[in-house]
Amino acid sequence: MATLVSQNELQFDARIVNVASVRQVSPFRYPGGKTWLVPTISAWLRRRKKPLNTLVDPFAGGASVPLGMLGEGIVDRIVLGELDPDVSAVWKCVFSSQEELLSRRIMTFPMSRDNVLKELSRGPRSGVDRAFQVLLRNRTFRGGILAPGASLMKVGENGHGVASRWYPETLVKRLRALYSLRSAIDFIEGDAFALINRYIGQQDVAFFIDPPYTAGNGKRAGRRLYKHSELDHLALFDLLGRAAGIVLMTYDDCPEVIEMANSHGFQIERVPMKNTHHEKKYELLISNCGRFA
Ligand SMILES: C[S@@+](CC[C@H](N)C(=O)[O-])C[C@H]1O[C@@H](n2cnc3c(N)ncnc32)[C@H](O)[C@@H]1O
Repeated sequence: MATLVSQNELQFDARIVNVASVRQVSPFRYPGGKTWLVPTISAWLRRRKKPLNTLVDPFAGGASVPLGMLGEGIVDRIVLGELDPDVSAVWKCVFSSQEELLSRRIMTFPMSRDNVLKELSRGPRSGVDRAFQVLLRNRTFRGGILAPGASLMKVGENGHGVASRWYPETLVKRLRALYSLRSAIDFIEGDAFALINRYIGQQDVAFFIDPPYTAGNGKRAGRRLYKHSELDHLALFDLLGRAAGIVLMTYDDCPEVIEMANSHGFQIERVPMKNTHHEKKYELLISNCGRFA
């Protein structure tokens, strides 16, 4: 069972979700990705009585949660925001008429360590080129990390080296499925605060907030994973404390975050998860649903 950290209990299903059982829809293998939370969030949102139209994810990364909610028909529309121009290049391409060109690049790439190094050593010549290089890097670098300092896999899974996570047919299937959903998806490259402000007064909106974990003791881990990781976490709580719609945040379990959530009237629950080293740890789910359910 979940451990309560405040008087206000949220009704989350606290069993550890096996991530392999969740349908993957994103082309990214995203560090800190929340695919494992998709079943929990979908069950929780289904129980909300408030009419819900749009899900806004301003720290989209691999966008596993909003894409999952759209796929399950829990919302009609999703709005994705992301500051990293490389990650943004992929999403812009996927939801544009260039998607087919990107898919072709993926299908025809002759995968080998030398070819990956050669491809990534030259600057991108177009939007499609950039999107392709980002996906290639994401799927051949250790932990899918795109931040400076990341390095190419050596052994990979089962000794398959750089090809361990390169599944062209599967990737292309996902890209085509996403392209077919494009009329229900808005992607906006830019800062999360501006995007949140745009929807802050709307009641039929839910925010899914999964920022880099750089508050309190999580500082170093979050910095290593993303190019953009510095964030004014207190300002984020201040802003979301004014939301008219549902707010659902995920954070690392640290006293600084618990303090900010409590002082802004949010409810908190710890949920168990397994990290990449298969160790059990807890993350926080933080919500305002008590006021708006
Ligand atoms: C924890 S990751 C999100 C992972 C995502 N939920 C998933 O399942 O794949 C946080 C993301 O926020 C982005 N980011 C960092 N600062 C940002 C900002 N100020 N505005 C928008 N995005 C930002 C990072 O580039 C990173 O992709």
